[in-house]
Amino acid sequence: MRVLVRPAEESDCAYFIDIHCPQLKGLPRRERLARCGWWGDEEACAFLLRLYRGLGGEVFVAELYGEVIGEVEVLPHDDCLLGPRAYVNVLWVKEGSRGKGVGRALITAAAEWARSKGYGRLDVIPEEQSVAFYRKLGFKVVATQCKAEKRIVRRGVPPTLKCCEEIHAHNTPSDKVLVTGTYRPGLFTWFAAWFDTHTRHRPPTAYEVKHPTLRGGTWVALLDWFHKGRASLTAYTQEEPTHHEFKGLAETATQIALTTGVEDLFIQTWEKYAPALREAEYAILKTNIPWMSLRIKSKML
Ligand SMILES: CC(C)(COP(=O)(O)OP(=O)(O)OC[C@H]1O[C@@H](n2cnc3c(N)ncnc32)[C@H](O)[C@@H]1OP(=O)(O)O)[C@@H](O)C(=O)NCCC(=O)NCCS
Repeated sequence: MRVLVRPAEESDCAYFIDIHCPQLKGLPRRERLARCGWWGDEEACAFLLRLYRGLGGEVFVAELYGEVIGEVEVLPHDDCLLGPRAYVNVLWVKEGSRGKGVGRALITAAAEWARSKGYGRLDVIPEEQSVAFYRKLGFKVVATQCKAEKRIVRRGVPPTLKCCEEIHAHNTPSDKVLVTGTYRPGLFTWFAAWFDTHTRHRPPTAYEVKHPTLRGGTWVALLDWFHKGRASLTAYTQEEPTHHEFKGLAETATQIALTTGVEDLFIQTWEKYAPALREAEYAILKTNIPWMSLRIKSKML
């Protein structure tokens, strides 16, 4: 079997639904987008390709006898708290084509791309069922993350937000590191939140948080609305927060949620911040989510 791995073209987008969610083919667009995300719709998928390339990332597809049977999406992750690295956002092989070396070929292309960009590491937060696959390819667990949720209970008149100034797409937090929402590189989340009109429930809400709970004086809070009443918080700071600083950040995020109509606020972050989230009265939903990393050598895999 000779699999060709090459950069994706917009015309490949027609195949992405076959790779990710073939059971949804033929359903209305709204339903495909709701249940499968960008990959369920050609137009949304073309937006995704442009977003990757605009951010210096790449999407590779695996082709066999003219049919696209797998894809990998890679990005620079320069705002990672672990230091700059390349990041696998998505890897997916069509169900009937698994176990034949396609996943390995796609990760090899991703690792070579990372090396060509000067990165020493390629990282991923794998789905539970693919941890063993990444181990086999030489990835190691180097950190863990947790997921948390805050149910917002409103009593009386919501407080006035004194800490924050509303900001917009052009206030890109490119000089900051990412502390929550680390399941996707920070700039990817930022631009997807502002410019994706396909899968978001509404445009994001973003603030520069002025009062200096953190070194550097300000941090940026992005509320990304995937569903009505439910938002995920992405936070960008000047430098890695301490336990105390993270607790302050989580409490301010609650204040922001109270005034912006959020009913459920979601956070994914490094596991070491779980105690600070508990102290700020967030419910921890999941711990021990592995973050895996592959050291890039001169010749890959
Ligand atoms: C995970 C996935 C990408 C692997 O792709 P694949 O084409 O089936 O993998 P390959 O055939 O290239 O396997 C490479 C090696 O990993 C091993 N491997 C693959 N899947 C494995 C698994 N789930 N557990 C253990 N080993 C696995 C293979 O045996 C092979 O080992 P070998 O080279 O010694 O024979 C594919 O199963 C998939 O798309 N799964 C669903 C989506 C998913 O979980 N994506 C990852 C999200 S981060």
